[in-house]
Amino acid sequence: MEKGFILWFTGLSGSGKTTITKALEPELKARGCKVEILDGDVVRTNLSKGLGFSREDRDTNIRRIGFVANLLSRNGVVAITAAISPYRAIRDEIRGIEPNFVEVYVTAPLEVCESRDVKGLYAKARAGEIKGFTGIDDPYEEPLNPEIICYTERESVEESVKKVLSKLEELGYI
Ligand code: PPS
Ligand code: MG
Repeated sequence: MEKGFILWFTGLSGSGKTTITKALEPELKARGCKVEILDGDVVRTNLSKGLGFSREDRDTNIRRIGFVANLLSRNGVVAITAAISPYRAIRDEIRGIEPNFVEVYVTAPLEVCESRDVKGLYAKARAGEIKGFTGIDDPYEEPLNPEIICYTERESVEESVKKVLSKLEELGYI
């Protein structure tokens, strides 16, 4: 069985997590990996349906994603996650459960994420229509030692994907 691992993407809304993970998936499949993506936005419509954005609910959401990612990875699947996962303690907790854990910090200045505003949520948060929006009036704790950092303001999606692939090669995962 191929070696499974968790590829954990974290970063602000609009930083590029979903875009990079989607572009990465076919590249990993082309290298013979089995791949599954757990995107926070999607997970919140099924496995985490009904959860909100309090710290407690976010922690529950992230623990669920970590649990499933762990099941997948121990069965030889590359489990890619794309949730904001704003709290360092929970990310590190999951790393403690699955040591084959590669953290990818997807980052761009808040103004850049805000100007992209793919879903119009930053505008709503600024207008006070959404309370507790990450980066506006809710915390995001940057990873202290991520294996990979993607600076999406200045890197293209292709460059970020290449960067992830070369790090995975260097670490012996692919
Ligand atoms: S978390 O914190 O990891 O549980 O969040 P996640 O499951 O990734 O869900 C984040 C997506 O939900 C939308 N959204 C919000 N994000 C942050 N804060 C608040 N209050 C909020 N409300 C809705 C937002 O579109 C996030 O999607 P992405 O893809 O990250 O932009
Ligand atoms: Mg997304």
